[in-house]
Amino acid sequence: MADERSITGRPPGERKSAPPRAIEGDAQPEDRKVDHALRPRSLREMIGQDRLRDKMQILVEAARQRGDALDHVLLYGPPGLGKTTLSHVLAYEMGANLKVTAGPAVEKAGDLAAILTNLRKGDVLFIDEIHRLGRAVEEILYPAMEDFSLNIVVGSGPGARNIQLSLPKFTVVGATTRLALMTSPLRARFGVVERFDFYDQLSVQEIVVRAARLMEVPIDPEGAVAIARRARGTPRVSLRLLRRLRDYAQVRAKGRITEPVAIEALSLLEIDELGLDDLDRRVLDALVNKFGGGPVGLDTLAASISEEPDTIMDVVEPYLLQLGFLDRTPRGRVATRAAYAHLHVNYPDRPEQSGLFG
Ligand SMILES: Nc1ncnc2c1ncn2[C@@H]1O[C@H](COP(=O)(O)OP(=O)(O)OP(=O)(O)O)[C@@H](O)[C@H]1O
Ligand SMILES: [Mg+2]
Repeated sequence: MADERSITGRPPGERKSAPPRAIEGDAQPEDRKVDHALRPRSLREMIGQDRLRDKMQILVEAARQRGDALDHVLLYGPPGLGKTTLSHVLAYEMGANLKVTAGPAVEKAGDLAAILTNLRKGDVLFIDEIHRLGRAVEEILYPAMEDFSLNIVVGSGPGARNIQLSLPKFTVVGATTRLALMTSPLRARFGVVERFDFYDQLSVQEIVVRAARLMEVPIDPEGAVAIARRARGTPRVSLRLLRRLRDYAQVRAKGRITEPVAIEALSLLEIDELGLDDLDRRVLDALVNKFGGGPVGLDTLAASISEEPDTIMDVVEPYLLQLGFLDRTPRGRVATRAAYAHLHVNYPDRPEQSGLFG
């Protein structure tokens, strides 16, 4: 398997720096060490996302039967759900080499040209955060993906020449948390576009049990349930909680994660029964108590609690939307009745006007 740093010099998925939260979907440095060991290698080892796995199975088998490279695959969805994992799995299933890079790491058209000319037939090129590729770089990618041809300009001034190289047939697997930020010509180059959804609780529970086995952490089924309930449908979050609980159990409870141990440790981490942590609660609280339930723009909301709009959009909102606590309207974010109930605040009689008085 390819070294993740082979092309970018830095691990993919690395983004802006926000203070680490126990339940953030974004990768934190500590995650990457274990990510590798716990990452499922094959489609069979992947848990949950059945519909998506079925589709990938068919795609892989069909390509293998034809002796062809995989079609280009674009994966999108909130952080920590398995986009990077699936890209590795696809390469493994195809018996292909994996090359890894990320949108912000490919600064110049020449950087991408260098990556492309090093590809061999059937290779999988994983481009994380693909929505962050620059325009000039994207323009190199279009013909490369479509016709496996590379158009580059050699030299400069009057001596400059246009040359066209043909590339071996390869596969781009792109991943993004922000499909909306991708340009439509780039999106159109992908034959397969798939969304990752949050996992159901049972799948997360299975992921926790599997990881505990690999980490040799004794855990009761009820302990795994307690984690799965608060992992906001996100494997990465469940694995991080598992590590926190392992530490707690080791220091306070002879090493075993039982249900009471899990519940004690989770309340120490200030994670509530829905998996909401301090940042989620601050967002909800601001929306309801400072802005009268909205509508309020993302930037204003973020500024009011001194957070990055990106963090709120990528990490906080998807789960609040999933819980039905938040609506995105053309005029801004709006808190729902369920959000008020969760905060034990009375729902206003005329929510559509409450923003004026809030
Ligand atoms: N289906 C799965 N079964 C078991 N473990 C999984 C599954 N999906 C993800 N994981 C685990 O969750 C962790 C996070 O997954 P991954 O890094 O692939 O997420 P991601 O979608 O690429 O996130 P990001 O958007 O932040 O890059 C990995 O360590 C992996 O072990
Ligand atoms: Mg990733």
